[in-house]
Amino acid sequence: MKYMALTLLTAGAIASAPTVNGQASERVEHLLSDMTLEEKVGQMTQLTLTAVAARPSQGSGRVELDPDLLREALVDRHIGSLLNAHDEALPLEGWHELITEIQDVATNETRLGIPIVYGIDAIHGTGYMMDATIFPHNLGLAATFNPELVRRTGEITAVEVLASGITWNFGPVLDMGRHPAWPRFYETFGEDPYLASILGRAAFEGQQSVETFGASMKHYLGYGQPYSGRDRAPTYLPEYLVREIHLAPFAEAMHADPAAVMVNSGEINGVPVHASYYWLTEVLRGELGFEGVIVTDWMDVIFLHTRHRIARDLREATRLAVEAGIDMSMTPYDFAFADHLISLVQDGVIPESRIDESVRRILTMKERMGLFDDPYPDQSLSDDFALPESRAVARQAAAESITLLQNDGILPLQEGGRILVTGPAARSLSALNGGWTHTWQGVDEQFFPDDYVTLLDELHERNVTVAYEEGAGFLEKGNIEAAVDLARHADVAIVVLGEQGYSEWVGDISDLALPEPQIQLAEAIIATGTPTVVVLLQGRPRLISRFADDAAAIVMAYWPGMEGAQAIADVLFGDVNPSGRLPFTYPRAANELIPYDHRFVETLNTGFDRQAGGFNPQYEFGHGLSYTTFEYSDLEVHRTMARTNRYRIEIQVTNTGDRAGREHVLLYVRQNVASLTPPVKRLRGFQSVNLEPGESARVTFELDDPDFSYIGLEGMPVLEPGVFDILIGDFTESLNVLNYFQ
Ligand code: BGC
Repeated sequence: MKYMALTLLTAGAIASAPTVNGQASERVEHLLSDMTLEEKVGQMTQLTLTAVAARPSQGSGRVELDPDLLREALVDRHIGSLLNAHDEALPLEGWHELITEIQDVATNETRLGIPIVYGIDAIHGTGYMMDATIFPHNLGLAATFNPELVRRTGEITAVEVLASGITWNFGPVLDMGRHPAWPRFYETFGEDPYLASILGRAAFEGQQSVETFGASMKHYLGYGQPYSGRDRAPTYLPEYLVREIHLAPFAEAMHADPAAVMVNSGEINGVPVHASYYWLTEVLRGELGFEGVIVTDWMDVIFLHTRHRIARDLREATRLAVEAGIDMSMTPYDFAFADHLISLVQDGVIPESRIDESVRRILTMKERMGLFDDPYPDQSLSDDFALPESRAVARQAAAESITLLQNDGILPLQEGGRILVTGPAARSLSALNGGWTHTWQGVDEQFFPDDYVTLLDELHERNVTVAYEEGAGFLEKGNIEAAVDLARHADVAIVVLGEQGYSEWVGDISDLALPEPQIQLAEAIIATGTPTVVVLLQGRPRLISRFADDAAAIVMAYWPGMEGAQAIADVLFGDVNPSGRLPFTYPRAANELIPYDHRFVETLNTGFDRQAGGFNPQYEFGHGLSYTTFEYSDLEVHRTMARTNRYRIEIQVTNTGDRAGREHVLLYVRQNVASLTPPVKRLRGFQSVNLEPGESARVTFELDDPDFSYIGLEGMPVLEPGVFDILIGDFTESLNVLNYFQ
């Protein structure tokens, strides 16, 4: 609980001069001293697999490399890194062959024999490896409010990536989900920086606990709040909020010593992050003390010229990015970056010592990954790949993520009844797994393993009579009448709506509402009078206000992964008592994308007196129902040390219903008055308890200075004395906070 607190105090307190690269190991220094400029710049260049491949696997399980292209890249151009799958996931043996062939050339045919560092996107489990363990996306993991579970998913992910022979992950994602239309919203741990910091750190600790594995923080910085809601678009935000909201999870993940960072493809306040010396060097290296590798995102050096238009040509773009602080360019198809960088050094524009800094970091990362000792896949790790116990963790994560948004008592369902299943997501694997699953977009279901089941498949396995009619496509109209007809003869209708997979800009939308055919289907089924349960499988909160109030129950399942169908069915039938909580504010209307930690003046009502009360989202951050009920009582606040702001907060939680259940207790702090308008509240702690019927537990929180601080205009934590409220459930307790250091 103190993680974020620690960070708030240290961010900004560390010396703000850029870190000067210290000496690396003897092996690295020795190699470096032996390298030509071309060899050094080659290490800073990263190509995608497609650039050296003859053909994709197309279902064969093997990618055929082009020996000439591979040698041109590795031997002639000294390329240091490759990335990505070639369109689709490969089985373990396919990766083993590929990595072995690449490392053979790198270590045997190049002058210095430096191995390649291969990078991959393992975003929710090891999505580019056939039969791997696929977890809920981060948004669903955030709903579990369970750092230990997130840590475990990270560890399994790292082991499975490593089993393929790959040592470098482009994740975990630490972006904040601050715009619900953003097509990468599902990759985030939601809208709250405290929650994202704790879960992000847990994910890093899990991944980096696996020896020789390197994880990357991404996408640094400010990616998740694009003004337009589109991917790779500008963020306009005062710096103190960039720091308080977006920098926090990166600062926190520093405790897990991340190997690398990938840069945000967008802009902050008019400056593309790839060209920002301030954010990359002064803040990331200087303040946060990051010493790992800074890799660009896809083509982003080129885009400084062609898209952001801050560079007249590619040479200028290269100069800007390198001067800003990047170490490696994901070019990822050609050698233009390398050519320009060589000429910039030869012309004296960029000193070779600057190149040395980056190469030293890259070689150090390779060393840390054990690549100099053995760059080949460790076959013995195959025994740890896709274990049943890993799959059980995926099941647990999916079950704990599912969030019951609404329930008039229809759930849990009775066994033995007749149910209609309808909606485009009912028979879709893609809508369970989302983007980054077996292919980039996660839509092509021919690549999904045979043992994956859809929600419809799973419901057929349960003790009910199932009728099915799709009723609507994700975007297109379907046979609503047929679905309505079946609904009339059913005891309950389950309408499964949402989104099929997408990644990055392909998922840009111009309307946050659920597509019209799906809304019409829900409305028509509800209008039959048959109790209707809506299940939402989606990567972001598509608006449902046109029918939500009339549904008997609404279940948010996010994109829950390979075990999602079973987990949803378990919740529907009461085998699992739901405990997920929304990690974001679910908006009711398209023009009210207001997060929970808004300013007071953002939500005044429309009356002449303009009172509070104008905050009216569909569901609030932290909302989530259970099949049992919990009561909070006996709040106690103790100061634990005189002349400090150290407090212990205790509250009693009792399961007052008739089922065992899990309750997440959320603690918020509200600063009543501050020099910079304070948000109405900030999450500062959460604790989870499992309680049998009638059982009680005392839940304890500890608060200290950082929990009462915010990031001020100077970019530093500020503690302003005054009255603060502690909010837990319906309880509020006021504290008089003083600044003992001034
Ligand atoms: C994405 C990154 C990803 C990279 C490599 C980019 O387009 O923005 O998140 O790591 O591709 O696949």
